[in-house]
Amino acid sequence: MSLLFEPLEIKGIRLKNRIVAAPIASMTCTKTGLPTADTLENYMPIAESGVGLAVIEHHAVHPDGRVRVRQLMMDRDDVLPYQKGLASLFSSCGTPALVQLNHAGSLIMDEDLLENGWAPKGPSPIRHPRSNLYVMPMGLSSDEISSLPQLFADAARRAVGAGYSGVEIHACHGYLLGQFLSPMTNLRSDSYGGEVKNRARLIFEVHDAVRHVVGDETVIAVRLGMADTLPDRDPCGQTIDDARWVAGEFSSRGLDLLDLSGNMCGYDGHGEAWFAPYCRTVKDAAGSIPVICAGGIKTAETALRLLDRGECDLVGVGRALKSDPNLVRTWKEQE
Ligand SMILES: Cc1cc2nc3c(=O)[nH]c(=O)nc-3n(C[C@H](O)[C@H](O)[C@H](O)COP(=O)(O)O)c2cc1C
Repeated sequence: MSLLFEPLEIKGIRLKNRIVAAPIASMTCTKTGLPTADTLENYMPIAESGVGLAVIEHHAVHPDGRVRVRQLMMDRDDVLPYQKGLASLFSSCGTPALVQLNHAGSLIMDEDLLENGWAPKGPSPIRHPRSNLYVMPMGLSSDEISSLPQLFADAARRAVGAGYSGVEIHACHGYLLGQFLSPMTNLRSDSYGGEVKNRARLIFEVHDAVRHVVGDETVIAVRLGMADTLPDRDPCGQTIDDARWVAGEFSSRGLDLLDLSGNMCGYDGHGEAWFAPYCRTVKDAAGSIPVICAGGIKTAETALRLLDRGECDLVGVGRALKSDPNLVRTWKEQE
């Protein structure tokens, strides 16, 4: 049997293979962030696909932390009955599922969110380098920053209550936790800005608050933005050394899973498996934490090569799986 179909156990949860469905925002929910029949229809093929683990698209932890109007939310207890329906889709198929929790900070993509003079907030009042809206965010106050970990923790409690196997904290693609990590968007001069241990402080505070609420038995993953530039570009902003430092810190904090992608550069690159060179170096720093490499993995050969070379423990597959829900079965037949 190839490494691709070798099981892996994380916190007592058995992943039957090393293929992870990467989170893909579906924009199928109501304007109040509730899953709909379209959401269930969207996720049924993923739940039935045979992946070892599914990470479900980003859910806002607070209405002010939305990227778009039609974004799933985990911000209030009212969502629970609806979320139970989505979670049970996965449990009934025997597919472990994590739900991704996010705060967009200053990266909003939907003009409709700017109604009534509302302005998003980020670490510093600086225009987001990836935003295509001309929005000048406000800088978060110290009190506002200290309320953020609890928002993630409350959302995580709901996610576990709904029946998911755990949560993934979104700290990449230039959203709020990525904004703190990046010197491009974080110009703070307090204990949240400056050297990497300060820029990463909020990520650890969120992790610790979530752990406190969900306990030791529940899986916590972090999707970490490894750098602000792709591996084939000149470094600028957050560097891979920053990500290595964060991964090293997490190795002594009991993190269960590290899902690796880009920060300000987003998730897209060129060719195949564009983040693999970064994944190798971050995995070295992450100690025994299992690592997911995602981004441009489209074939069984590429996936297996990454696993065989020890660049990652799991492969995240987004668009290839979305366009072909039979992908896992096809890869299995090719063994
Ligand atoms: C339409 C779309 C929506 C996405 N939504 C999310 C998301 O909610 N959370 C996240 O972390 N990444 C999101 N991503 C990034 C994917 O998880 C993945 O990292 C990216 O698509 C690269 O992998 P791929 O080449 O296998 O698709 C999204 C990507 C696309 C194309």
